[in-house]
Amino acid sequence: MNAMLITGGAGFIGSNFLSAVMKRYPRLEVYVLDAMTYAGHPENIAPEIRASPRFHLWYGNICNAELVSDIMDHVDTVVHFAAETHVARSIFDNWVFFQTDVMGTHIIANQVLRHRKRIKRFIHISTSEVYGTAISEPMDEDEHPLMPLSPYASAKCGADRLVYSYWKTYDIPAVIIRPFNQYGPCQHLEKCVPRFVTSALFGEPLTVHGDGSAARDWVFVDDTCRGLVAALEAPLDALLGEVINMGTGIATDVLTLARNVLDITGASQSLLEFIEDRPGQVDKHIAATDKAARLLKWKATTDLDTGLEKTVEWYRAHEAWWRKQEWMKHVELTLSNGRKVSH
Ligand SMILES: NC(=O)c1ccc[n+]([C@@H]2O[C@H](COP(=O)([O-])OP(=O)(O)OC[C@H]3O[C@@H](n4cnc5c(N)ncnc54)[C@H](O)[C@@H]3O)[C@@H](O)[C@H]2O)c1
Repeated sequence: MNAMLITGGAGFIGSNFLSAVMKRYPRLEVYVLDAMTYAGHPENIAPEIRASPRFHLWYGNICNAELVSDIMDHVDTVVHFAAETHVARSIFDNWVFFQTDVMGTHIIANQVLRHRKRIKRFIHISTSEVYGTAISEPMDEDEHPLMPLSPYASAKCGADRLVYSYWKTYDIPAVIIRPFNQYGPCQHLEKCVPRFVTSALFGEPLTVHGDGSAARDWVFVDDTCRGLVAALEAPLDALLGEVINMGTGIATDVLTLARNVLDITGASQSLLEFIEDRPGQVDKHIAATDKAARLLKWKATTDLDTGLEKTVEWYRAHEAWWRKQEWMKHVELTLSNGRKVSH
């Protein structure tokens, strides 16, 4: 591996992954293509990385095929994170989700195909959201049906299956990773964990959807980045066309998560506030983890309390980073009964 394209490398997981690969591969040339939407920030990329001669930051859109092609002329590995990612936002304005997540992935996959001789490995970042809610547990890559429940989830499901079909039809060197719910440094305030953490730090209400019983498989982002490095290094033949979950195999409900955040920050439990459930809510996600263990020799190792402590520490130390996002912390939704709710 000599040169890698990371799409969405200025976003939450992408920037954490970028740091991990710059450190692990001291000679690797790295190209980041990022449109710097409200979710992407150049300051997510450490100054020493930005200053490195082997780092190349391209401000641009994955939907620009010519641009993507120009960058792919230089690389042998592609890791594709770029997407619109917020479920609540996809409920009131979903056009851009289908544009970026489906059509953008179409362009990336087409360009991987055009550059088939150069590109040795294409890692597509999908999501656990493609499954919908768990109808069998744990959620298995090859058995659990794909029943996306929100426009975001359905757009990502389209992208996931598009990449799979390109592997099957054209034999592109694709591997599909389905991370479960991520949390950690540099995550946008609109997402559940940073919203809870920053509210707790400022003594504001932590708004919990429904009764808080919706459960997720929470994965600390460093663990996922380690898993993605494993996906770069595992023998390719065993991975081609495969879908691999990245989860812990443990589900924790949102109310427990909120209570843990209040404990860790030392804030009062009285800050909990319950609001109407979100449309398209997933009741439960819990990952089957044996395929990742078998193919990648990977498992998540950070328990939820430790991951939350590290996350709280990071948000305490980076107020200037997240203060500017306060105005986007909540999304106003109109429910089917006409009521407006701030999510
Ligand atoms: N955060 C999670 O819990 C989670 C869980 C599973 C899977 N994922 C997937 O992981 C990937 C990264 O998620 P994240 O949480 O880091 O997202 P994010 O919203 O923090 O970052 C997305 C990045 O993509 C960039 N981007 C958006 N549209 C673009 C376009 N058209 N062209 C180029 N760049 C564009 C943004 O500027 C941003 O830097 C996504 O594909 C997401 O679906 C996320």
